Amino acid sequence: VEARAPRLAGDVMRVVALVGPMGSGKTEVGRMLARRLGWSFIDTDAEIVAGQRRPIADIFRTDGERGFREMERAVVRSVVRGRNRVVATGGGAVLSAATRRALRDAGPVFWLTAPVDVLLQRVGKDAGRPLLGADPRASLERLLRERDALYADAGEPIDAAPPIGAVVDSVLRALSAMQETVRVDLGARSYDIKVGAGTLALLGHELHTLGARGRVVIITDRGLMRRFGLRAVEALEGCGFDPLPVTVPAGERAKSLRRASAVIDALAAAGVNRAHTIVALGGGVVGDLAGFVAGVFMRGIRFVQAPTTLLAQIDSSIGGKTAVNHDRAKNLIGVYHQPALVLSDVDTLASLPSREVRAGLAEAVKYGMILDPDLFAMLERDGPQIIGAAPGRELAAIVARCAATKARVVALDEIERGPREILNYGHTVGHGIEAAIGGALVHGEAIAIGMTVEVRVAQRLGLADAALHERQTRLLETLGLPTRVPQVSTEAVLDAMRLDKKRREGRIRCSLPEGIGRMRLGVDVPVPLLEEVIDACRESS
Ligand SMILES: NC(=O)c1ccc[n+]([C@@H]2O[C@H](COP(=O)([O-])OP(=O)(O)OC[C@H]3O[C@@H](n4cnc5c(N)ncnc54)[C@H](O)[C@@H]3O)[C@@H](O)[C@H]2O)c1
Ligand SMILES: [Zn+2]
Repeated sequence: VEARAPRLAGDVMRVVALVGPMGSGKTEVGRMLARRLGWSFIDTDAEIVAGQRRPIADIFRTDGERGFREMERAVVRSVVRGRNRVVATGGGAVLSAATRRALRDAGPVFWLTAPVDVLLQRVGKDAGRPLLGADPRASLERLLRERDALYADAGEPIDAAPPIGAVVDSVLRALSAMQETVRVDLGARSYDIKVGAGTLALLGHELHTLGARGRVVIITDRGLMRRFGLRAVEALEGCGFDPLPVTVPAGERAKSLRRASAVIDALAAAGVNRAHTIVALGGGVVGDLAGFVAGVFMRGIRFVQAPTTLLAQIDSSIGGKTAVNHDRAKNLIGVYHQPALVLSDVDTLASLPSREVRAGLAEAVKYGMILDPDLFAMLERDGPQIIGAAPGRELAAIVARCAATKARVVALDEIERGPREILNYGHTVGHGIEAAIGGALVHGEAIAIGMTVEVRVAQRLGLADAALHERQTRLLETLGLPTRVPQVSTEAVLDAMRLDKKRREGRIRCSLPEGIGRMRLGVDVPVPLLEEVIDACRESS
């Protein structure tokens, strides 16, 4: 039997299990690993002993190995139903195929393996091992011969001979490597986007890897503090950090200079300095606010994005644009400040309302249209199932793919001198509709309508054919997104696009599609044509 390949990102990491022979250090490694993840630790042998109120040797004597294995299967079945747990199993747990499967279905499984000498030396300190008998070395060698293939089938091997701390680090590195990684190439400001499921628990480990030490300020909103913040705090504490949560109210109103100033007061009061790190835990609002604060506080301190909405994972957390709003305009006050890492845990999206998931997928459709035909096809294939389902492998793959697309554009044009305007697809008109209708549509819905108008403009200009418009519309509709201009006057939309009377006869610059993954940038569209197409895209037509 060959060692199992590392599990792909998207298999949700609910439980991390350790298997391996006696003496491999499962309990000690498990306990320390749990602390680093901010999770709880369960040792199945200890659970059995607690349940039976007698030592394992007694159970073997009275119930035999079969009776013990039966109890062990039941305990494993129940512990894998939970989440945020590290589970250490008994050395023989892998004998049961059902147990191996139950562990694998709950998350990554690691096989702690070490040479017999090391195992014997460790076991020697510990009496009461019922299976070793009179000749421990011979017994252990026989057990390993029988079981190694089963351990290999159960999990990924980890060298458990080094001291415990080093073994825990190996497991953490292996968990981290199971995420999909996208590099944002910006020279000295380059960083990774890591996408996984259940991987918010790796926050402390990832920050440690970045070289962060000491204080970590977690900026989040009050609801998300309850939902994810406490776990993040525990994961950070378990990795030796000193976390400081700072909460803001949920919603766009938090993106204000006043709120930024209040957050800065909290940082100053806590003695935060340039050696410390800010983590944005939340949607685009929290990301923009925290990024802005991180960008201006002491002229910029290290900043990590931990986005928890689909929009934030595929769009706002990437690219270093940060801002707060002004009474006169959204995002009027901001800086470019790149994060040092984007840690996207798609498992956090489980609690996101499905309307927000759909809205995020509108931006994914945009990425497919502007640069990535394969992503567009993935959305056609997997998109509808993703909505309302538990986040998993398909969603993680889509998030990583979108992140890669945005990363490519950002790398070409960090501060929006040109190519980044490709990202405006659907937004020229979409922003107008969003502003004109105010509140009735969420951003992604307005963008879906905006893309529909813009692809039809492209068609009218002879850049795109009818099939392109139809394929895009079909995808948007299967994702439950609107494609018709709602009850708002074209006048109001054009006003909101800041096309005053004088400019109505003129032209407006748009990025328009010629095919899937093929865009024409900077097309001058006559405003009267735009007006006509908006009218043609009404709900009644
Ligand atoms: N910087 C950029 O490049 C960029 C790009 C696009 C958008 N943005 C900005 O992003 C903001 C919109 O972001 P958004 O759509 O993420 O909205 P948001 O940040 O307001 O989040 C929406 C709501 O969902 C809640 N929420 C977040 N995660 C959740 C979860 N996992 N489960 C349940 N509820 C959750 C939040 O508490 C909030 O109430 C806007 O301010 C926009 O300007 C910035
Ligand atoms: Zn957008």
